[in-house]
Amino acid sequence: MRTKIVAGNWKMNKTQTETVTLLNDIILNYNKNSATKLIVAPPFVNLSKAVEICNNTNIIVAAQNMHQAEGGAFTGEISANMLVNIGINYVILGHSERRMYFKENDALLANKVDTALKHNMMVIFCFGEELKDRLENNHFNIIEYQLRDALFHLDKNQWKNIILAYEPVWAIGTGETATPEQAQEVHHFVRNLIDQVYGFETSDNVSILYGGSVKPDNAKQIFSKQDVDGGLIGGASLNANEFLSIANSI
Ligand code: PGA
Repeated sequence: MRTKIVAGNWKMNKTQTETVTLLNDIILNYNKNSATKLIVAPPFVNLSKAVEICNNTNIIVAAQNMHQAEGGAFTGEISANMLVNIGINYVILGHSERRMYFKENDALLANKVDTALKHNMMVIFCFGEELKDRLENNHFNIIEYQLRDALFHLDKNQWKNIILAYEPVWAIGTGETATPEQAQEVHHFVRNLIDQVYGFETSDNVSILYGGSVKPDNAKQIFSKQDVDGGLIGGASLNANEFLSIANSI
């Protein structure tokens, strides 16, 4: 049985005061008996506070990024070791905004993944095509290379620490979602690819989340698809009611 996951990517939103309010709201209202794993990813400065608040709950706190080096002269950056030391064991890597605005490429992401795994962290690895790739019907190629170049050097055992998130760039923050069929088609393609390289056990166990304008009113349909194991939520994760309504849609 694959783990069902709903993760909130807060991006550059919420002060520490707002973080406390939002998390308390989520904790007060979330379904403690649900088998769905709930993850929140606030900005770096609020991670410690988030860990403190989520202590003794089932809610997991993740970072949105980290540097690939163990430490050193990298002004403004955060290492895996620093994250683990404050109780963060999950990290989002490869988000399209990191790829687009900070020029993160597959080779760099392969390094980041290696560093995270060395620290025994769980990686939520994002991938997905841009609009032009889809219009040219080249999206399967793009996705295959993104995964091959960043993840296919891993051994089978390391895949236990990988969660995938398919996020078509054209659907992020645009209000335009992939249809449930489009999501299923890509998720199925990705699971097949992993099956070819690593075999059935690995491909059947990896959770593949969908991200891109998931909202309370479309979550159920998207999550109903066989190869969609949950969602990575941006905008709608900034509101406790919306986030929990999405989490309850699995
Ligand atoms: P969105 O963002 O839900 O606001 O489209 C998703 C994401 O970037 O992870």
